[in-house]
Amino acid sequence: MIDKNIHILISEGKIRNRIKELALEINKDYNNKKVLIIGILKGCFMFLADLVRELKCELTIDFMIVSSYGDEMVTSGEIRIIKDLQESIYKRHILIVEDIVDTGLTLSHIVDYLKSRKPASIRICTLLDKKEMRIKDVKIDYVGFEIGNEFVIGYGLDYAQRFRELPYIGVLRSKDGI
Ligand code: IMP
Ligand code: MG
Repeated sequence: MIDKNIHILISEGKIRNRIKELALEINKDYNNKKVLIIGILKGCFMFLADLVRELKCELTIDFMIVSSYGDEMVTSGEIRIIKDLQESIYKRHILIVEDIVDTGLTLSHIVDYLKSRKPASIRICTLLDKKEMRIKDVKIDYVGFEIGNEFVIGYGLDYAQRFRELPYIGVLRSKDGI
């Protein structure tokens, strides 16, 4: 879908190249370790699918669905677990894969929750980082792109559940009529 209302912020090609670079780092860091990739749905689905195809380490994949209370543009910070993990994470190396970290509230809740189950290690990989919006400090190990304070869509990210299918990261010029 090409929409005049969408300004392309990060193209398909740029995403592809950056994912290759991230995968090189992850492959180096996990070398002989087995890793459990935890995707945070729904936003992660496209990024995770492209990232794991570049990974060379032995891995398994599980997903969580969390939702934050509040309206769709602002995170309240409190999270609700809609779908929990199916695999045990005890003594395992965990790599959380996120679409975007904004205030950091969602992720810090997820990390606290997972830490209580005593994994061997937890690292975080996010495609996008809105660093200036951070309220809660979370250590992110792998960042695709730092972006400013603008609401982005596409490549898994939605506005009111739309636009997840776009192959690029875009910004809506206007939300009128959506
Ligand atoms: P945080 O708790 O503020 O870090 O928000 C994290 C979640 O809010 C992300 O996983 C997204 O689901 C959503 N979010 C934050 N910024 C955006 C955006 O610009 N576009 C789409 N979703 C966003
Ligand atoms: Mg998300």
